Amino acid sequence: CRRTLLSAAVLSLAAVAAPAWAQAPIVIKFSHVVAADTPKGKAAEVFAKKAAELTKGRVKVEVYANSTLYKDKEEMEALQLGAVQMLAPSLAKFGPLGVKEFEVFDLPFLFSSYDQLHKVTTGAVGKQLLAKLEPKGIRGLAYWDNGFKSFSANTPIKLPTDLKGKKMRIQSSKVLEEQMRALGALPQVMAFSEVYQALQTGVVDGTENPISNLYTQKMYEVQKHLSLTEHGYLGYAVIVNKKFWDGLPPDIRTQLDSAMEQATRYANQIAQVENEKALDAVKASGKTTVYTPTKEERLAFKKALVPVHKAMESRIGRDTIQAVYKDIG
Ligand code: LMR
Repeated sequence: CRRTLLSAAVLSLAAVAAPAWAQAPIVIKFSHVVAADTPKGKAAEVFAKKAAELTKGRVKVEVYANSTLYKDKEEMEALQLGAVQMLAPSLAKFGPLGVKEFEVFDLPFLFSSYDQLHKVTTGAVGKQLLAKLEPKGIRGLAYWDNGFKSFSANTPIKLPTDLKGKKMRIQSSKVLEEQMRALGALPQVMAFSEVYQALQTGVVDGTENPISNLYTQKMYEVQKHLSLTEHGYLGYAVIVNKKFWDGLPPDIRTQLDSAMEQATRYANQIAQVENEKALDAVKASGKTTVYTPTKEERLAFKKALVPVHKAMESRIGRDTIQAVYKDIG
């Protein structure tokens, strides 16, 4: 009958337009180290969904959360080798790659709000920093927020002296190393995936985190005290293997750019709320004492940590620091 004929015609037309071999999607492996239920984890999923929608299934983004594919240091190497195509490492993890300027974001008491931070990430300085990744075979696509870090340990933290002599886990940033030294603490660089166990077994005494990380990694279960110092920022650069990205068909790249724009908007919309929700959950758990420093106590931290800006000038570059100061006013 006519209908059968018509559908047969449609089918054969479809076969001509899209032969089976052309149907195999382009796979983007997106590896990250945090839980799925975090600002970064959720934004990665949104990117995957939007990428599938906008490319009509021609791209499949596989998200690997919680260091299941690679840990911190390995994931950078894997990206450069092309074993994964996309990552969103913390801005504090680009030093080992030889791009030290990103450590400007680690300077303590630099940003006092997300708005101030966005002036940098959405402006010329943000672009210039991402461009520094190109010679490393990496393209920077976007900045995603997490939030402001607070100190935790097994003893109360009210003043800088409370961290004296404590072994504190840090990300691989020289600025964070200097920050801990300025407090008289002993910094220990460690992959994110190992922090919970290190805290549990006493390999380190404490750490610093945005609350969403402290909560989703269950670190609050092995830290008796959390002090809401909010002394520094932690956020991400979404990066891709440049060769892979440049080799994509232009129409697909445009669609992926649009998916990334939407995921970025989403990430930066939810980050603050997700951290607030995590803080409520930590408080509700009753496992850690949450302390809010007084104005004077926070000022004491600020006084102890602001000299880190000057001390790290030669590492980060005076021009970069000055450009950031100018952006935030
Ligand atoms: C950390 O290592 O503490 C963070 O960079 C983890 C993350 O990706 O938020």
